[in-house]
Amino acid sequence: MKLLEERIIRDGRVKEGNVLKVDSFLNHQIDIALYNEMGKEFRRLFPGDAITRILTIEASGIGIACAAAQYFHVPVVFARKTHSINLDDDVYTARVRSFTHQREYDIIVSKRYLTSEDHVLIIDDFLANGCAVNGLLELVYSAGATVEGVGIAIEKGFQKGGSLLRGRGIRVESLAVVESMDAAAGTITFRRT
Ligand code: G4P
Repeated sequence: MKLLEERIIRDGRVKEGNVLKVDSFLNHQIDIALYNEMGKEFRRLFPGDAITRILTIEASGIGIACAAAQYFHVPVVFARKTHSINLDDDVYTARVRSFTHQREYDIIVSKRYLTSEDHVLIIDDFLANGCAVNGLLELVYSAGATVEGVGIAIEKGFQKGGSLLRGRGIRVESLAVVESMDAAAGTITFRRT
């Protein structure tokens, strides 16, 4: 998506350790006009009427999922992060081991908001090694729901998350795929499809 790529080039900052900071417009301060355009683009990439729910994870995924949901006309459900084991019968649980953040946590979603009838679009801000998306997939499978696809704002194409998911036959659509970035030079290149 050209608009997002241009914004990343203009306002993104490359940090040591392959971290891309986009907090001036995407995941701290938020440019709602950009979010809306991203939402429209997700709708264009996932046409049809199959999707019944959008699933994301707190915190940064929520706003993007909400912007997209306006064009799908379906509810957004976000998985909550929790550091205590939740033994309730009324939630699905998955364990996420974040490589990027070097921490482990559980994510939960209420069984009331994810059922075997659902056709789910997963949305998140970043796809790096795929730990967060894998946890969300586990929740969907636990519910017996169907995965329609994964929509990502920024995929770090040089990390393995995207290729592992696609290798499993999951449809992954990323609005911008970073091919490489260099903290010293401050350069970012994008994958061309
Ligand atoms: P992982 O497997 O390497 O842990 O990362 P994953 O693919 O699950 O990517 C999603 C999470 O990693 C997101 O956090 C995202 O913020 C963070 N992340 C990965 N690479 C980058 C990066 O280059 N820049 C930024 N800004 N974030 C990155 P999350 O679990 O969704 O938490 P939150 O940030 O929404 O609270």
